[in-house]
Amino acid sequence: MITEPDPGIRQAGGENVRAVSTLIGLFVLSVSGAAVAADGAALFAKNCSGCHGADAKADTAAAKAMKVPAIAGHDAEATVNHIRTDEKHKSLSAKLNDEDLQAIAGFLASAQ
Ligand code: HEC
Repeated sequence: MITEPDPGIRQAGGENVRAVSTLIGLFVLSVSGAAVAADGAALFAKNCSGCHGADAKADTAAAKAMKVPAIAGHDAEATVNHIRTDEKHKSLSAKLNDEDLQAIAGFLASAQ
């Protein structure tokens, strides 16, 4: 005779599976989020920090001498537009694909 599993046990098993998949989902989300942030920061350091300063606050003698503005917290869309249209950032614009530029812009928007 086939016996049905105890409903209590089945219930407990279902809860565990759900809890584990929720944990996996959160883990995947946090890992991919961190990767995007790291990319933007690294790309900023490589392409922009020489003029705008390591913290994007233009807080260096060279930045002040060249009248480079602070751009920490700058709106992401405005940053993308500026790089794509501004004469001074023309050679940089040619080097950065949309994905890289978005990553930098996102990093700047979240920078304090
Ligand atoms: C060679 C030096 C130099 C580099 C490298 C540089 N910038 Fe700039 N940036 C400037 C100067 C000078 C200005 C002000 C004049 C202008 O906008 O052309 C400026 C202005 C800006 C502005 C406008 C800010 C405002 O308040 O309107 C943004 C946004 C910006 N830069 C983003 C970037 C990003 C992002 C990078 C890296 C991808 C970068 N810049 C690399 C020199 C630089």
